[in-house]
Amino acid sequence: MSRGAGSRKDVASKDGAKFPSTLRFVLCGGVDDGKSTLIGRILYECRQVFADQVRAVEEDSRRYGTQGDAPDLALLLDGLRDERRQGITIDVAYRSFETARRRFIVADAPGHEQYTRNMATGTSTADLAVVMADARKGILPQTGRHTRIAAMFGVHHFVLAVNKMDLVQWDRDAFESIDAAYRTMAKEIGVSRVVSAPVSALTGDNLRRRSPHTPWYAGPTLLEHLETVEVGRPAVQRPFRMPVQYVNRPDPDFRGYCGRIATGEVVTGDRVRIEPAGTVAEVESILARRAARDGAARGDSVTLTLRPEVDVIRGDVIAAAGDPLEAADQLRARVLWMGDEPMAAGRSYRMRLHTHEVDAWVTRIRHRVDVSDGSELAAERLELNDLGVVNLATRRPVPFAPFAQSRALGGFILIDRLTNATVGAGTIMFSLMRAANLKWRDFSVTRDKRAEMKRQRARCLWLTGLSASGKSTLADLLERRLASEGRHTYLLDGDNVRHGLNRDLGFTETDRVENIRRVSEVARLMVDAGLVVIVSFISPFQSERDFARGLFKPGDFMEIFVDAPIEVCARRDPKGLYAKARRGEIRNFTGVDSAYERPERPDLRLDTEKLSPEECVDLVMRALGSGHG
Ligand code: ADX
Repeated sequence: MSRGAGSRKDVASKDGAKFPSTLRFVLCGGVDDGKSTLIGRILYECRQVFADQVRAVEEDSRRYGTQGDAPDLALLLDGLRDERRQGITIDVAYRSFETARRRFIVADAPGHEQYTRNMATGTSTADLAVVMADARKGILPQTGRHTRIAAMFGVHHFVLAVNKMDLVQWDRDAFESIDAAYRTMAKEIGVSRVVSAPVSALTGDNLRRRSPHTPWYAGPTLLEHLETVEVGRPAVQRPFRMPVQYVNRPDPDFRGYCGRIATGEVVTGDRVRIEPAGTVAEVESILARRAARDGAARGDSVTLTLRPEVDVIRGDVIAAAGDPLEAADQLRARVLWMGDEPMAAGRSYRMRLHTHEVDAWVTRIRHRVDVSDGSELAAERLELNDLGVVNLATRRPVPFAPFAQSRALGGFILIDRLTNATVGAGTIMFSLMRAANLKWRDFSVTRDKRAEMKRQRARCLWLTGLSASGKSTLADLLERRLASEGRHTYLLDGDNVRHGLNRDLGFTETDRVENIRRVSEVARLMVDAGLVVIVSFISPFQSERDFARGLFKPGDFMEIFVDAPIEVCARRDPKGLYAKARRGEIRNFTGVDSAYERPERPDLRLDTEKLSPEECVDLVMRALGSGHG
């Protein structure tokens, strides 16, 4: 890495102190394990009343830093907080308290299986997890579940609090066998830093005060350990990375990139590379709280200016030029599903990864993980609270680091396009090399050239609507009209495409999603070939229609809603399918026992109950404009 003009000695890091001033930990356990008693007792022992909520703390740090500053894995948390705002039960209580040596923020998440997503939320910003076990019961499936989820979201330090020791007469053997069983399990999960303590939340033994009942126990009390454990990861030695949260352009003379340094340090004069574009520049100045500095390090919120001025947008990552970041559009990831609706392979979601947002979809569910025992199970879908290992594709390459290297650059959430709800939280394992080696190549004869030779503007006219709403009739008439005007067209019809390319697909939600994904991609290739493409598919889901739209340049995609009331369609019923569906002879029939989501904002709506096919086609032709734009 090039040495800059600033001095590295001056770069103070937030990890620099031996004991960071604040320890964030998550407390895992069920009500029966005595979790509330434990928290209450700790607060009591520390003479703290129930303290403030952590949200206030975060908001402070926001105001403190540059615009849009956020704490670690903020986006994960932000997304989940959005969800909370929408009133879905993500129920994590944060409390803070302090001792003379440290300040603590504890996330208290409900422990039952149906609250797995809450636990994930509480875990996502924690440095350490306190896992509770009942001395009488030992290691339970939930102990494995809590440990596995915390480990997945980047917790490396675990404390096993073996509670209710008073109820087993402070039996050393009981404690030691639970401790041994936990260590074996932790090792399997890949967790090595474990401390176990025999405690009684009720009496306070070994919480702050060393217990007279455990002369055989040489380890620290729970609080001693929490006060002294070092959790700071050696992130400063890592290469410099800063996701751009905000581009500050108050006037034409100033352009600064604001963000929070995820790893490493930077000094003025350093050479940096902007990912995913790969442009190289030099750090001209570093501003923090309106003052210029020579250097900054992990955790600092800064504004950088670069020389020469290059193109940088929100979601880009500014990284050390000598140690560039990866960008990929095919990823292997762990995903914890939080949506009430199951995850459908092939459906596209909005992926938010640090400050980056991109369309992403699961191309394959490799397996589901039983979070209690870690076994891998075959799965076609992921349901609420399921953990799975999946292959993800993103529409454009995203700059990232594997989660094991950087929580900030490797943790993400998936958002439902329609409801805006957070439906998944995940961690990137690695990029799929096969795909990373594939590069999109622009060829010399371009789409515009191909269209120009046909003297037309290439577009996709997407007809959506119920079966028998009139799509095929209109598509046929529309294509005839376009052909009569000398346009070069192609008509992709649901029934026809299902005879060949999509012969392997049926009518389940997953299959329909894949059906539309494939035909969208085919339509895109055809528009690229310079054609006017008419797509006539039921395409019942808005998220897939939005996905299709996203493949085209604005204005090149027209969503045309072929609308007729379902009774009218059922009366027409040219193929007798409504009758069959109503008799239960075919399943998942759109409008009968499978949903049709009406387009929210179609470019055009054609009421085929009131208008004749010719009138409808006139409307489409008018919308296309004279000469077809
Ligand atoms: S889509 O929902 O995946 O977009 P698509 O347009 O390809 O559907 O196929 C719909 C056609 O398949 C209908 O016109 C109808 O002829 C036929 N079909 C057979 N079974 C069903 C079903 N269960 N639901 C809807 N259409 C069906």
